[in-house]
Amino acid sequence: MKVLGIESSCDETAAAVVADGRIVQSSVVASQVDIHRPYDGVVPELASRQHLRAVVPVVSRALAEAGIGSNQLDGVAVTRGPGLIGALLVGFSFAKAYAWALGLPWVGIDHLEAHIHSVFLGDDPPPFPFVALMVSGGHTCLYHVTGPTAMTPMGQTRDDAAGEAFDKVAKMLALGYPGGVVIDRLAAEGDPAKVAFPRPFLNRDTFDFSFSGLKSAVRRHLETHPAPSEKEMADIAASFQEAVVDVLAAKAVAACRRQDCRHLALVGGVAANRRLRHRLSADARSHGIAVHIPHPALCGDNAAMVAAAGFHRLAAGERAPLDEDVFSRHPTRSA
Ligand code: KG4
Ligand code: ZN
Repeated sequence: MKVLGIESSCDETAAAVVADGRIVQSSVVASQVDIHRPYDGVVPELASRQHLRAVVPVVSRALAEAGIGSNQLDGVAVTRGPGLIGALLVGFSFAKAYAWALGLPWVGIDHLEAHIHSVFLGDDPPPFPFVALMVSGGHTCLYHVTGPTAMTPMGQTRDDAAGEAFDKVAKMLALGYPGGVVIDRLAAEGDPAKVAFPRPFLNRDTFDFSFSGLKSAVRRHLETHPAPSEKEMADIAASFQEAVVDVLAAKAVAACRRQDCRHLALVGGVAANRRLRHRLSADARSHGIAVHIPHPALCGDNAAMVAAAGFHRLAAGERAPLDEDVFSRHPTRSA
């Protein structure tokens, strides 16, 4: 079954063709980073306008790269939320119209469920059940995943997401946007033990996270140590990153042990972080837990993961009504 996936929840317009939820036949991602860089963050109205310009060419390219025509598609899956409403609406309305015109079944997909499916697109998919650590710009959550559409939340961030903290700290250090990847690079040159930043919630008996105190600790450090040298900047980046990684790795391993689960998936934009990939793999291995991490290209927002999640829902007979709407936040969650 070939599914066309479409993603437009934030600042990437993406389309992909995936067979049977596993085989990526094409994955096209048009990034808007250059448009938002002068503003040090995503400007929602500019994002919506750029999605409008990009959606048709991106879908055409995804079909061309998969070497198929639209008549060879079996269904359409599109991100429904959470995300920026105006941005979501572009991909969602396009997908509805496209599926209706072609007489194809279609479904709206939760962006977080899609990220979890990115782990099935590589060479090392986990067996069910597994624990998933989802770390992105908008979310930091742990799930117990027992089936392709069965994901029980175990914990989530009470304030900033991990990626948001990376982006804000990068901004404080004047490293530009997007910040996560720059901190990743700079931290490799620094000493992670140089500044003793707090490890929020590390010793609390909860699977929730909190990163806003850590972000404030970096701000206070910069106030008391102004005009850092290049070496000091690298030390701050490395020490901040180590604090985030310590908390994420400890909670993820504890969540696996709580569920008596031997498989852990790391997904979301922050899963591209080299230190996190390394530490989580090492820590989990020492507890007999196998870690499954998608290729970095599939960690950030893409449409292949949307198509993969959509395959299971379409195959189970799920169909979205034409009056279905997008959503900006989960009604039951605060972050
Ligand atoms: O999943 P994603 O592409 O979009 C959301 O759903 O939010 O995640 C984007 C986040 C951004 O905060 C970005 O700074 C972070 O992922 N990120 C990284 C790295 N690459 C992207 N954070 C740390 N290290 C990286 N290498
Ligand atoms: Zn995402």
